[in-house]
Amino acid sequence: MKPIQVGLLGAGTVGSGTFKVLLRNQEEIKRRAGRGIEITMVADLDQARAREVAGEGVRVVADARDVIANPDIDIVIELIGGYGVAKQLVLEAIAAGKHVVTANKALLAVHGTEIFAAAHAKGVMVAFEAAVAGGIPIIKALREGLTANSIQWLAGIINGTTNFILSEMRDKGLDFGTVLKEAQRLGYAEADPTFDIEGVDAGHKVTLMSAIAFGIPVQFDKAHIEGITKLAAQDIKYAEQLGYRIKLLGITKRTAQGVELRVHPSLVPSKRLLANVEGAMNAVVVHGDAVGTTLYYGKGAGSEPTASAVIADLVDITRLHTADAAHRVPHLAFHPDAMSDLKVLPMAEVVTSYYLRLRVADQAGVLAKVTGLLATAGISIDAVLQREADEVGGEGSTQTDLIILTHDAREGTVNDVLAELQALPTVLQPIVRIRKEELS
Ligand code: HSE
Repeated sequence: MKPIQVGLLGAGTVGSGTFKVLLRNQEEIKRRAGRGIEITMVADLDQARAREVAGEGVRVVADARDVIANPDIDIVIELIGGYGVAKQLVLEAIAAGKHVVTANKALLAVHGTEIFAAAHAKGVMVAFEAAVAGGIPIIKALREGLTANSIQWLAGIINGTTNFILSEMRDKGLDFGTVLKEAQRLGYAEADPTFDIEGVDAGHKVTLMSAIAFGIPVQFDKAHIEGITKLAAQDIKYAEQLGYRIKLLGITKRTAQGVELRVHPSLVPSKRLLANVEGAMNAVVVHGDAVGTTLYYGKGAGSEPTASAVIADLVDITRLHTADAAHRVPHLAFHPDAMSDLKVLPMAEVVTSYYLRLRVADQAGVLAKVTGLLATAGISIDAVLQREADEVGGEGSTQTDLIILTHDAREGTVNDVLAELQALPTVLQPIVRIRKEELS
């Protein structure tokens, strides 16, 4: 059978990895897919770069629409990124009857409903393994491997840049700003790292996983998102003393009231495997009712790791593209007419536990007042750590840090009590609140 023909939009790092791996492993990939897979056309505004990446025998063009218009192309790989022109090109490729493979988490988390509906109507596949956690086959695991389960929750370290920064902050006791600069110098963080450090990239990825886990539409606009920019080195140190590490987690959880969908720094018990995922690595823990807890770990970015996911999608499409569209694996794991209307909960309705740090006046009655207000709000304390004033503020200091770990509480209740605590004259600085996940 003649090879399936693929057109590539965007000849950057991942595109280059895709060429290399397809070429290196072409025989094995063909034996798995049942026929050859060839990238025969590449579009990139930088044609010289595209020519270098593609090698001989591949048609290089500047205009992506030339690829989409080519009737010989069966699959279009979109590696442009962003929501702008990429969205238009993906919709045009679908309209032209092409299957699409994309690594574009931002596009699918924000416009997925429209894109999947267009693909469904046209009977083509939109595959996006590379969009979440790079080389880790987490989409395949959630959508197919765990299909017997009622998935209860998942939590992941799904942004390598922030995990690298947090690992460095912990290892070296440095603050966020210093480590970010170093990460940029070493190429671990982009020149404009906003999407990574503000938790947006992780928000896109957890939105996609949540949709697949629970059969709900993609709803990035309902996700609660906080990044790591406000984390202080001293909180990482105190967390460590209490047996925890701080990680930026993407979390989604099914509850009786609805679905939690959130990204924020979290204390994780140091003994959990997830707490020991260091540097730029990614990992996702998924809990299903039948299987229990499972863990997926690997490289979340990079040329060949991401190409590994792109090519897995090419093979899937090659195997399935002659199948009746109604019998293919649904884009979001559940059939479009069987999606759930479980609502995404506002953050105030989320129930979790908390790390609180209060800079207080070191005088009689302060601890009693603080714990009294928590007790009145029905918030139960799990542990308290109080540092010596001298250690916190230097010799003769009259201030100290009070660190409190709570049991589970409703976020809205915690917000109310934090406002009361903040108003106390003995609370001297803005209270630090970091959520805590036991992941048990
Ligand atoms: N910038 C991402 C990260 C990789 O740091 O993990 C692509 O989503």
